[in-house]
Amino acid sequence: MEKQIRLADGRYIPALGMGSWHLAQGRHPISQELAALKRGLELNMSLIDTAEVYGNGESEILVGKAIARQRDDVFLVSKIAPNNAGNLESIKNACIQSLSRLGTDYLDLYLLHWRAGIRQLDLLVESFEQLKREGLIRAWGVSNFGVRDMEELLETPNGHACAINQISYSLFDRAAEHRLIPWSQQHGIPVMAYSPLGSSSQFTEESVLERIAQKYAVAPSAIAINWSMRNGMTTAIPESGTPAHIEENARALTIELDEQDLALLNRSYPLLS
Ligand SMILES: NC(=O)c1ccc[n+]([C@@H]2O[C@H](COP(=O)([O-])OP(=O)(O)OC[C@H]3O[C@@H](n4cnc5c(N)ncnc54)[C@H](OP(=O)(O)O)[C@@H]3O)[C@@H](O)[C@H]2O)c1
Repeated sequence: MEKQIRLADGRYIPALGMGSWHLAQGRHPISQELAALKRGLELNMSLIDTAEVYGNGESEILVGKAIARQRDDVFLVSKIAPNNAGNLESIKNACIQSLSRLGTDYLDLYLLHWRAGIRQLDLLVESFEQLKREGLIRAWGVSNFGVRDMEELLETPNGHACAINQISYSLFDRAAEHRLIPWSQQHGIPVMAYSPLGSSSQFTEESVLERIAQKYAVAPSAIAINWSMRNGMTTAIPESGTPAHIEENARALTIELDEQDLALLNRSYPLLS
C-alpha cells in the first residue's frame, strides 16, 4: 500500500514525491526527464512539486506532459512567487497560468513559495480560500516559513487551513529540528522536505550512507530520503531527471531504518547548534 502523510485538514498525501526545480532546463535530455517523472509515478512517488518560477514555467509544462492522461492519480503541487501574491486578482491570474501550463483545471496544493515582501498574511489567506471555493485549488500552504511566520499565520483568520509548510530538511541541513519541526508536530501541520539529498549528487561519496545502504541493498539516496521522512509527518520531494536515479530513490519507500542506523547517522550528521 502507498505510504501516506496526514494533512492538517485530515486528507492524506503521498509520503514520497518528486521535485522539478532544475527540470526542463537542459541538464538532461527532456525525453529522459519526462521518462524519469513517469517512472516515479509508476513507483508510487505520486506527488509532484513544481513552481511557476522553475525554468520560467518550463518545469510546469514538462510536469503537465508527465501527468497527462493520469491527472487524477497524481497529487500536484505548485507554488506562487511572492511578487505575484499581492492581491486576489494577481494570485488568481498566476494560478490560472500555472494550471494552463500544467494542462489541468485544479491543483491539489498551492503554496506561497517564500514570504519576502508579504507583510499582511490575511489577504493571501483569503485569496487562497477564494481559489478553493472556485475549485482551482484543493488546499493551500506555505514554504520557507519559520516559527514566527507560522505563528502569525495561525493568528490570521482561516490561517489554520494551512495544509503544510515546505522547507529545507535533510541529513545535510537539520536546522529545522531546533524549533520548526517540533512546533509543526505540536500544531499538527506536516512538513514537506525539499532538497532531501542536499541539492546535489555529491552525497553518494558519503561512506556512512554507503555502509547503511549496503545493509538494505539500496542506493545511498534511499537512506538519505528515508531518514528525512522517518517521523511519519514529513513528505520528501527528491528531484531527479534520470529514470535510474528515480528507481533508486523510490526504494526509500521500501525500507525502515532501525535504531542502530539512526544513531550512526546522528553521529555522522549531527544536529549543529
Ligand atoms: N520551496 C523551495 O524554496 C524549494 C527550494 C529547493 C527545492 N525545492 C523543491 O525540492 C526539490 C528537490 O530539491 P533539490 O532539487 O534542491 O535537491 P535534491 O532533491 O536534494 O537533489 C537533487 C540532486 O540530486 C541528484 N540525484 C537525485 N537522485 C539521485 C540518486 N539516486 N543518485 C545520485 N544523485 C541523485 C540529482 O541529479 P540527477 O537529476 O542527475 O539525478 C540532483 O543533482 C526541487 O526540485 C523543488 O521541487 C523547493
